[in-house]
Amino acid sequence: MVSGEFRDVFMGAIIANSGYTREIASAAIQAGNADLIGFGRPIISNPDLVERFANGWSLNPAADPGVWFSFDKKGYTDFPTYRKF
Ligand SMILES: Cc1cc2nc3c(=O)[nH]c(=O)nc-3n(C[C@H](O)[C@H](O)[C@H](O)COP(=O)(O)O)c2cc1C
Repeated sequence: MVSGEFRDVFMGAIIANSGYTREIASAAIQAGNADLIGFGRPIISNPDLVERFANGWSLNPAADPGVWFSFDKKGYTDFPTYRKF
């Protein structure tokens, strides 16, 4: 996760990513170590990721890396939004 040391050497906005969860992202921002957190894999499998984070809803299973960089929608745009049962 992003270290606070970057603040000493970089004066711009710090956008961190890679492996963040909602909780770890919030902690990094609260600690002042980052201004924004980018999400890659979670946004692929959760088209409503922002709403899920905002409401504390669970996430879909991670996208299958076997279909990444393909030319098909499978594994990219076929994940469901959150539904309460
Ligand atoms: C399928 C896939 C495609 C990606 N394509 C790009 C890309 O074109 N350019 C880029 O800078 N990063 C790309 N990334 C990297 C993501 O932006 C992000 O850095 C990475 O997924 C780590 O964040 P995460 O742990 O939230 O997934 C890609 C990641 C995935 C999984």
